Amino acid sequence: MNEAETAHKLTSATSLGRWIGLGPYYAMFPVKFAFEIVETFSKPNSIVLDPFAGRGSSIYAAAALNRIGYGIEINPVGWLYGFVKLNPAPKDKVLKRIQSLKKDAESISKEEIESLPEFFSSCYASNVLSYLLAARRSLNWKNDRVDATVMAIILVDLHGKVRSSLSNQMRQSKAMSPDYSIRWWKDRGLHPPERDPIEFLSKKVVWRYDKGIPKLRTSEMILGDSIEEIPRLQEKLDQKQQPKVSLLFTSPPYFGISNYLKDQWIRLWVLGGPTKPVSNGDKRFTRFESKPTYQNLLYKVFKSCSELMAENAKIYIRTDARPFTFETTLSVLKDIFPNKRVEIKDQPFTKKTQTALYGDKENKPGERDIILT
Ligand SMILES: C[S@@+](CC[C@H](N)C(=O)[O-])C[C@H]1O[C@@H](n2cnc3c(N)ncnc32)[C@H](O)[C@@H]1O
Repeated sequence: MNEAETAHKLTSATSLGRWIGLGPYYAMFPVKFAFEIVETFSKPNSIVLDPFAGRGSSIYAAAALNRIGYGIEINPVGWLYGFVKLNPAPKDKVLKRIQSLKKDAESISKEEIESLPEFFSSCYASNVLSYLLAARRSLNWKNDRVDATVMAIILVDLHGKVRSSLSNQMRQSKAMSPDYSIRWWKDRGLHPPERDPIEFLSKKVVWRYDKGIPKLRTSEMILGDSIEEIPRLQEKLDQKQQPKVSLLFTSPPYFGISNYLKDQWIRLWVLGGPTKPVSNGDKRFTRFESKPTYQNLLYKVFKSCSELMAENAKIYIRTDARPFTFETTLSVLKDIFPNKRVEIKDQPFTKKTQTALYGDKENKPGERDIILT
């Protein structure tokens, strides 16, 4: 595909464009960029690996361009988007499942709703809350493709603009803290929107499937910690007699920038997590808050990736331009791949920077790409 073709294929007028947009995630790749990199740095039928896959754009691009993608993501929100966009369940089954949650929602008691922290009734109308509690309880999103698809559709608009989401006014990509949100809504006299969740979600499904489901090469999103999953991937590649990885394409977490547990706490709650943001509940999620641990994470992950890679594999890493993240990433990569030629490309701050998409308007120094060939 040339650039114009890629841009055309990724608009919402095509199935490819509709599914790649699932769903809002902090620090995500612009989708056109994901396609361009896969196309430029890998060949059809080759293997593309992303050990910090987020919502899986790199893997989706690989699958759409006839490569085989493997993505690993520790945050269930990103994983679910990535998994579902590679494997959406049939539309009629998804619509039926959305409908079937009505019964479960009716069995949610008033006491159960009232026992939730104040945030929830300030954010959601009570029938929406019953529906979300039912989805939280009943959807087997880790193991069932239909349930996973329903859950991913719920997550996309779980919070966002009051006119177009299930929630009171909120950013779409990043959940705010409960106390801050309650104050903010009270000061402005804002109330949760009245919605019929079944009608709301069914419309979203109809839109998402309206151009069909794209034909993709079989690829995989793995839920877990790359430190553990990459060594296991070796066995999988061997079993399937697949070649070694030819492109490592990723964007590691940026040091000290985002806490993926706090920023996604409402979505993580629907997936079964706690009823409030917990920043350090799981140490695996917070390795980007201490310098030595961050360095160690990058070292371990890239080192184990190197063991799966072909001699002439290419590496494309998008990272933060801020000195600590950038320099740590560069030195780790040079250490692990001493024989590769290094090129650095600045991606100066524009409105399109990954972290600026979906409402984060703080000024950023931009991103920097490290390319090893
Ligand atoms: C900068 S984001 C990647 C965004 C991605 N490029 C996209 O387009 O959505 C970094 C991701 O690394 C994930 N992550 C952090 N530590 C991880 C680990 N040990 N194993 C797997 N994923 C991890 C974070 O949850 C986050 O989603």
